[in-house]
Amino acid sequence: MDQCISMSLKPIWHLIQKIIIFLEALIDSTSFKIFGISEMEEDPVAGKIAIVTGSNCGIGKQVARDLAERGATVILACRNLEAGKQAMNEIKQDIPDAKLDLVRLDLAELASVRKFAAEIKSRYPEIHLLINNAGLCSYKKEIQKTADGFELHMGVNHLGHFLLTNLLLDNLKAGAPSRVVTLSSTTMTISHLKLDDLMMETFKNPTVFTGVSRLPYNNSKMANALFTKELGRRLEGTGVTVYTLCPGIVNTEVFRDSGHFENIIAKTCIALTGIPLAKASLSVLYCALSRKCEHESGKFYRFGQVYRRANRLLKLKDAQELWEKSLQLVGL
Ligand SMILES: NC(=O)c1ccc[n+]([C@@H]2O[C@H](COP(=O)([O-])OP(=O)(O)OC[C@H]3O[C@@H](n4cnc5c(N)ncnc54)[C@H](OP(=O)(O)O)[C@@H]3O)[C@@H](O)[C@H]2O)c1
Repeated sequence: MDQCISMSLKPIWHLIQKIIIFLEALIDSTSFKIFGISEMEEDPVAGKIAIVTGSNCGIGKQVARDLAERGATVILACRNLEAGKQAMNEIKQDIPDAKLDLVRLDLAELASVRKFAAEIKSRYPEIHLLINNAGLCSYKKEIQKTADGFELHMGVNHLGHFLLTNLLLDNLKAGAPSRVVTLSSTTMTISHLKLDDLMMETFKNPTVFTGVSRLPYNNSKMANALFTKELGRRLEGTGVTVYTLCPGIVNTEVFRDSGHFENIIAKTCIALTGIPLAKASLSVLYCALSRKCEHESGKFYRFGQVYRRANRLLKLKDAQELWEKSLQLVGL
């Protein structure tokens, strides 16, 4: 349909699309807040090993807490060990017999990802849950880079998790049935990911009014979803199933690097559609534990349901091309 619309009408069409996506999110999040997820049918996780990246705050900390409460051993994978220790203490205060471990992981450095994976592999031969939760959304006008020279969002949100997951695959297979859950975002539906320019080197003139300044984040969230699609295909028959999801708009630290204008938009969206932290965690737990989706690998979820709009955008050819490029970039 996009192609039928003349160039001059494209910005209007994009705006209409954004409004439709926002209204849809408003309806879905309101329904989720009222009714929750009707049938979780959780698999027990007591005695299982779970890794949650970025679990010192926000959704990750809540997920770590909820898994610990269910009896899992939870490895908090955090770049800031002090913040990680504080999160561990808070969880322990709530759940005194929580089984927690803390290992440093900075997704902005491939060397740190490799070091983390080596330590985990030596200590935990079997892994049952990998929650790729960590993420950042930084609204700077210039492209920012990771230690390895990747565009910051693509580097942290996608490539760091891509390498981590691949390095831990043998342990996940050894722990099968096991799951990989990667947090994406509904903003992937308004991304403009160019597979021949993953680092956005041709990216010009970002403005807060066109929303272009959020593009690096949106693109990295599209990469999270494409990664999940191809990972699901590659892991068919191994007992490792994979999921990606949007937790809805949640009042966390994720907007900390927003500009003033973006902050106002974020706060308005939180006021209108905001999901409480415990419910956001429930969306993640649905993908991690629910029997209802155990055979539906590689799909995009929102609020405990397959999110069709997102899945329609995930083309196998793109997922495979991104996979090959990511392999080269992380040196696998
Ligand atoms: N909140 C929302 O409305 C929303 C909506 C859609 C999707 N999501 C997704 O949900 C996930 C969790 O976000 P959140 O809302 O809970 O945000 P948050 O409160 O900002 O938490 C993000 C976590 O990621 C960690 N992190 C950032 N950069 C990292 C790096 N280089 N290496 C390792 N960890 C790093 C942060 O650690 P530090 O504290 O050290 O920075 C923090 O623990 C993200 O993937 C986000 O994209 C959130």
